[in-house]
Amino acid sequence: MKKYIFTLLIIAFISSSCNKANISSEDKRLDQRVDSVMKLMTLDEKIGQMVLYTSDWDVTGPTLKSGYLDDIRKGNCGNIFNAHTAAYTRKLQKIAVEESRLGIPLLFGYDVIHGHKTIFPISLGESASWDLAAIEKSARVSAIEAAASGINWTFAPMCDVSVEPRWGRVSEGAGEDPYLGSRIAEARVKGFQGENNDLSDPLTILACVKHFAAYGAPLAGRDYNTVDMSERVFLDTYLPPYKAAIDAGAMSVMSSFNELDGIPATGSKYLLTDILRKKLGFKGFVVTDYTSINEMVNHGIVANESEAGALALNAGVDMDMQGEVYFKYLKKSIEDGLVDEKLVDDAVRRILRVKFMLGLFDDPYKYCNEEREKQLVYAPEHLEAELDVAKKSMVLLKNDNHSLPLKKGEKIAVIGELAASTRDLLGSWKAAGDWDFMKSTLDEIKLYNGEKNVIYAEGCKKMGEDRSGFAAAIAAARRADKIVMVIGEDWEWSGEAASRTSINVPGVQTELLEKLKALNKPVVVVLMNGRPLDLSKESTLADAILEAWYPGTMGGKAITQVLFGDYNPSGKLTMTFPRTLGQVPIFYYEKNTGRPIYLENPKYKSRYIDCPNDPLYPFGFGLSYTTFAYSDIKLSSNELTSDGEIEASVNVTNTGGVNGEEVVQCYVRDLVGSVTRPVKELKGFEKISLKAGQSKVITFKISPEMLAFYRADMTYGSEPGDFKLFIGGNSRDVKETEFKLK
Ligand code: NOJ
Repeated sequence: MKKYIFTLLIIAFISSSCNKANISSEDKRLDQRVDSVMKLMTLDEKIGQMVLYTSDWDVTGPTLKSGYLDDIRKGNCGNIFNAHTAAYTRKLQKIAVEESRLGIPLLFGYDVIHGHKTIFPISLGESASWDLAAIEKSARVSAIEAAASGINWTFAPMCDVSVEPRWGRVSEGAGEDPYLGSRIAEARVKGFQGENNDLSDPLTILACVKHFAAYGAPLAGRDYNTVDMSERVFLDTYLPPYKAAIDAGAMSVMSSFNELDGIPATGSKYLLTDILRKKLGFKGFVVTDYTSINEMVNHGIVANESEAGALALNAGVDMDMQGEVYFKYLKKSIEDGLVDEKLVDDAVRRILRVKFMLGLFDDPYKYCNEEREKQLVYAPEHLEAELDVAKKSMVLLKNDNHSLPLKKGEKIAVIGELAASTRDLLGSWKAAGDWDFMKSTLDEIKLYNGEKNVIYAEGCKKMGEDRSGFAAAIAAARRADKIVMVIGEDWEWSGEAASRTSINVPGVQTELLEKLKALNKPVVVVLMNGRPLDLSKESTLADAILEAWYPGTMGGKAITQVLFGDYNPSGKLTMTFPRTLGQVPIFYYEKNTGRPIYLENPKYKSRYIDCPNDPLYPFGFGLSYTTFAYSDIKLSSNELTSDGEIEASVNVTNTGGVNGEEVVQCYVRDLVGSVTRPVKELKGFEKISLKAGQSKVITFKISPEMLAFYRADMTYGSEPGDFKLFIGGNSRDVKETEFKLK
């Protein structure tokens, strides 16, 4: 304690009001306070601040290797991840604060990706809500629960744009679109770091923008694989969501595993200094991904770990996650003149700065309040928020003959292993979420519809070839009015290290679906999965398909409420669902090519001879239990001046029999550019609610800045000329008009 008080005295002029992010007037004082600590530090202690180790886990709870505890004590480890609960983090913090020489508090990081205890839908699912307020709320609740459990740093939001459904990590992102991805990245940062970006608030946590950069484009969809793209594609398409998150105030960034243009991201000065710091103006600190410094030896960019450490530091990496490279080699590299000690000072300054912003020097135990933890984790309003987001995330892909909603009291056969699963509802990265107390979709359907009206048969497993349960499932289905089959992927088939070479529904689930279809009863498919799947067969077999993703702690209830029409589905896909894997990569913002397919003479066109070009379900697509009609697309003017703004409007009418929500989407096409431009680009959207029969005029503002891109000479800006503007309920079915940028 003595040492901690000593440190506090050194920084006695701290005022707690100085902890807000982005307040430039306070920057100087913050720097002075950081300097006052820096002056006391040895080189070893500085390097210790640049080290992040994971805790280990056993069945009864988290424990650290004794060596790591000693590292904290000696000042050789300033940051820990994968340790949580107020009590446990307090124990570790106490070692840092009371037993290390300077008493510098620890950062506690954790993958709070879509919830801490209350688990929200996987991020891809959540993005399908297109509901920024709901997404922000989900991150807010996650931060509140994590902060109450000792965490002050989350490794989120994941801002990787991806058009690669084979890649399991698409489940962690916001889909294929840079504009929507940017808005969602901002919402998530706001949720984690709080409305006012006040990191000193004990109920906010530090966000970490990852994986910098372009990790979402691995060749062949294989995780950790090589990424290669033009600088223009990188800047135009992949960079915007990271930028948006940084502009929103995120104060840490994680470097990615992949290489880009032949240089591993963790050793890329171009990415971590030129783009991140100079171009984007990032002021926080950069942490590596797990051992990604060490992995640069495998990449073949350095001969050994010592060189890897030097490359990383010179590129702009401040903190080494788990690799022990900085710990082992940095001091020697300085002595050998391979790196400048000033870079160590800069890195430590950035890390300490964030620790000050979090208020850890004022009260290192501020996240370690067990009473608060008890009150806040699984708070009823958190579970309510999760139920709300889960319902909003679901996408109705098909609904022939009004098969949905189900009617209360109908006899329903529920089939499929996933229907009875609770663990799968949480998806990957379930943080500290528990599934033992949760209710499965089957439990919830029984609760809602009455046990006697529900007949369950597993039928088959999510994976494997076992058909022995088919007969029982068919028998159950024969006794029912309608069949609900829950199919999809095991939760472990999405997320990190979960790439697939097929995007089919695994095992024999579709085979059983075919048999159920033969009974000539309405068949409803509920999908649980973390990526776009090839649903070409299922979409012909099922009368209705509800994409439920992995919907989280309240997922069973959310699915039930949507199935029975207590909530009218409003989600829209944020990744294109192809007809077949052979179309991948497929995304709505493609280029026209010199031989677009819509021209005469289909032979020598950019097309497949065995499959249409268009996807099964396009970006932005999703049905409702009602229908919406679009009419009267109008512009306030057909000419947009270089400093002006025009308004585009459309009339949307709920033409069905029930109230519903619709995501109205606005796209633009730049017809002629100094470089070729996409056939459509999302420029705005609004989620609206319309009563049955009600109409609303929806307006989008269009400015020249919204039309900017990296031009032929790599300058950024818009170009005068003709544009098309489209408004509709998805990227395919739109009304269009034209304007000119002067
Ligand atoms: C590796 C993953 O790529 C990254 O997303 C995660 O945050 C870290 N491990 C820490 O768990």
